[in-house]
Amino acid sequence: LERTRGAGTLAGRRVVVSAGGTREPLDPVRFLGNRSSGKQGYALAAVAAERGAEVTLVSTADLATPDGVAVVPVETAREMEDAVRSAAASADVVVMAAAVADFRPADVAEHKIKKSHGPGPDGAPDESVPALTLVRNPDVLAGLVASRRGDGGPVLVGFAAETGDEDGSVLDHGRAKLERKGCDVLVVNEVGGGKAFGTDDNTVHVLRRGSGDVVDVGPATKSAVAAAVWDVVTDLL
Ligand code: CTP
Ligand code: CA
Repeated sequence: LERTRGAGTLAGRRVVVSAGGTREPLDPVRFLGNRSSGKQGYALAAVAAERGAEVTLVSTADLATPDGVAVVPVETAREMEDAVRSAAASADVVVMAAAVADFRPADVAEHKIKKSHGPGPDGAPDESVPALTLVRNPDVLAGLVASRRGDGGPVLVGFAAETGDEDGSVLDHGRAKLERKGCDVLVVNEVGGGKAFGTDDNTVHVLRRGSGDVVDVGPATKSAVAAAVWDVVTDLL
């Protein structure tokens, strides 16, 4: 099937998608990470390109690059922030599908952290355990919301993995997060019970700020979820 450049519902649009879990180094060989596979972000990038958008995919994942997508590889939250912010300057839409670590190790050891440092003067091995101190990472999406241009700037889309609990349902948590984060669209991802992480299927609720409407999608393939998200976003452009 021949895809026509410049055709499609996102023709002429520049979109930025972030994907995957950030990796926050502890030492040259170790990092703090999370279970995000990056598949939903890649599906979003692929569908946007199919619909004619110029797509920048800021990614920590090692997945096949979708046709027509420019990948910017990153590892840490701070690298992701730099790459997303520079691409966002000329973008119509930014979709933060990445699982950005909220915290990172305060210090990165220059050399591999060793289990023990050999026997001390008393001949006993050092069996101490290093303390791990964390500091907060920048919130990339909050930064984009805070620096919106006067003319509105890009449409900002967040993702949130939520579980229902005694404080509320998945949707309750999603609505509260949408208000708190101030983005235009929040895609609330149902997690727990083997849902979402690393699988090819996803169940989401797409919320729009200032609207009580919810678009429920799935269980569906991550491509079908991506198509539904772009349908909602395209309405806002
Ligand atoms: N996000 C971000 N930068 C961070 C943390 C999150 O840009 N440092 C983005 C994510 O990419 C996602 C959205 O914010 O699009 C929501 O992330 P989430 O982790 O659900 O929200 P938090 O505000 O971090 O709240 P919490 O983890 O406490 O639920
Ligand atoms: Ca978080």
